[in-house]
Amino acid sequence: MEPAGDFIRALPKAELHLHIEGTLEPQMAFQLAARHGMALPYPSVEALQQAYDFRDLQSFLDVYYAGAAVLRDERDFHDLTSAYLRRAHADGVVHAEIFFDPQTHTARGVALEAVIGGIGSALREAERELGLSHRLILCFLRHLSEDEAMRTLEQALPHLQAITGVGLDSAECGNPPGRFARVFERARALGLKAVAHAGEEGPASYIREALDVLKVSRIDHGVRSEQDPQLLARLVHERMPLTVCPLSNVRLRVFERMEDHNLGRLLAAGLCVTVNSDDPAYFGGYVADNYVAVQRALGLSREQIVQLAANSIEASFLPDAQKKAWQERIRVVAGAA
Ligand code: HPA
Ligand code: ZN
Repeated sequence: MEPAGDFIRALPKAELHLHIEGTLEPQMAFQLAARHGMALPYPSVEALQQAYDFRDLQSFLDVYYAGAAVLRDERDFHDLTSAYLRRAHADGVVHAEIFFDPQTHTARGVALEAVIGGIGSALREAERELGLSHRLILCFLRHLSEDEAMRTLEQALPHLQAITGVGLDSAECGNPPGRFARVFERARALGLKAVAHAGEEGPASYIREALDVLKVSRIDHGVRSEQDPQLLARLVHERMPLTVCPLSNVRLRVFERMEDHNLGRLLAAGLCVTVNSDDPAYFGGYVADNYVAVQRALGLSREQIVQLAANSIEASFLPDAQKKAWQERIRVVAGAA
């Protein structure tokens, strides 16, 4: 039997929870800093990597926002996105729905046009050259105000054709989804889809709020849903996808060890669980590494791995005909193995 990693990479998959700023590898951070004549507060790639020892979500966010300072112009965003898409393609990702945090960049004086222009040209290139399809999701930073989120949405209006949905990320505890009710309502009225991080560090009640108030189509993370049996039953009944990020959860101490992760139980309970990499440059692996890590730690079967890949296509924003074609391809690959 071939190693699990080869089988996992061969399966067509969608990646649905990926922050493009979280794909900034230390080597690229140094390259971009040199390009702009900037000094990083670390003497070497190794020293920077050693800073990736996180206690919780906030200790990660501090490093992640500091790292983003080297992203200054359209070419930087293009190169960052292009590098991620090549890595994802090598892992068998056929469709990527990518988050970006405009406020992290506009607050530093970087034009939204440079951000969307650079990410967008790399996405179109990957579609042409690698056959990798995509969607782009604009995330609001929840540690900032709803008014600031609303201004960001207004700024994005000329770029709506490039954007499929809005999301909500950054520091979860103390920043419940309900605080962003108006901006999500406006986004939905504009025809945008909605997703939100909920139940990563925050309570299960934030997941309910994301569903009821923000009317999301997916929950990002959502692992704390297990604390609320009624909510779990609802997620199963509505087949509401969770975009779970196993390596992220262990690195940010949501679970102490991968063996403690509840992904296997959520999957067995009938939830539409998907596996994703979140911020792969910071958490020690891209999407196939995440599949391999949970497969090993939880002893997932081949059928469960195939189910996770099939769930990722089902939970995507692809049109039904394309979903059907990928599901058929997954069955062929799984059957041939
Ligand atoms: N949670 C919240 N905000 C984030 C994350 C995350 O996992 N990654 C990047 N921004
Ligand atoms: Zn995330």
